[in-house]
Amino acid sequence: MPSLFRQMNSGMQIALAPMEGLVDEILRDVLTRVGGVDWCVTEFIRVSDRVLPQSSFRKLAPELDSGAVTRAGTPLRVQLLGSDPACLADNAAYACTLGAPAIDLNFGCPAKTVNKSRGGAVLLKEPELLHTILREVRRTVPAHIPVTAKMRLGFDSPDGALDCARALTAGGAQQLVVHARTKLDGYKPPAHWEWVARVRDVVDVPVYANGDIWSLADWRRCREVSGVDDIMLGRGLVSRPDLARQIGAARSGRAVPEMGWDEFRPLLVDFWQQARGKIAPRYAPGRLKQWLALLMRNYPEAAALFAELRRENDCARIDALLGVDTTAIRLVALG
Ligand SMILES: Cc1cc2nc3c(=O)[nH]c(=O)nc-3n(C[C@H](O)[C@H](O)[C@H](O)COP(=O)(O)O)c2cc1C
Repeated sequence: MPSLFRQMNSGMQIALAPMEGLVDEILRDVLTRVGGVDWCVTEFIRVSDRVLPQSSFRKLAPELDSGAVTRAGTPLRVQLLGSDPACLADNAAYACTLGAPAIDLNFGCPAKTVNKSRGGAVLLKEPELLHTILREVRRTVPAHIPVTAKMRLGFDSPDGALDCARALTAGGAQQLVVHARTKLDGYKPPAHWEWVARVRDVVDVPVYANGDIWSLADWRRCREVSGVDDIMLGRGLVSRPDLARQIGAARSGRAVPEMGWDEFRPLLVDFWQQARGKIAPRYAPGRLKQWLALLMRNYPEAAALFAELRRENDCARIDALLGVDTTAIRLVALG
């Protein structure tokens, strides 16, 4: 298992991106079992004006009950989103008492509703506030627990990116993940990896490149343009679950065969079995289709399955289609 020290200090780390509504406990479990991922992050936990109940943390970070690692032993960070420095600090400290081994702060969320209530990427307009948030969270969280931040390049322009990065690290961020786009860019390609290089040049903490790494070729270009070795993979890893494994092998000069559909299918079935046990039946089929829609980029078999399932919302019929053993589902449901 990668130690926290290695997570914080060594280069060449690969993180699985936080993705609200997509990368939950189940997908974290399956993706980290494929291999190559050094750490992962919860979906953002939204903080407004009070310390959240334990249940809010446990809902989005069930791994807290098993040492804050996924089944594969990959460490999990807890991500908070908000704008009130004192309240974020109190929630961060509370998350640590529940077992969070690291706290990550979100300054990248582009959602209108989130930005309207002064959360996520809109805060990149206020570097002084970024600094205060980091300072307060760092002051409140026990010294041995790392505090990290994830940022976009800015709200409507990257002009303030370096000031934001400096503000975050001066406040105490021990690592930065840079999603190399502004909020206005949304998810429009390309990601501006050259800005990751600029950020790296002005801070003295590890900087991770994030955005639009979908393949080994993208990773090579990203490394060349950004000059950084540490990366965070989001949609690329969800659509190609062995991407981190492939990159890890390429880094050490090895080539490993790509994961074919036959190797991958049992993982998809496992995902479905877990979804059946943990998600309400009216939502579980949607989760499977959501993943298939991304997998279609790389697997024609996923496209065929998606076409078959498209209008199917009956869990039992999906069980039959996937050839799932329903006894196993009961076992998952019973924990
Ligand atoms: C559906 C979705 C949900 C996301 N949720 C979060 C989140 O909760 N916290 C966060 O910091 N970033 C979130 N992001 C941004 C991703 O972590 C990542 O920065 C972005 O997708 C770019 O990386 P990629 O091109 O590798 O996907 C989300 C992105 C998507 C597409």
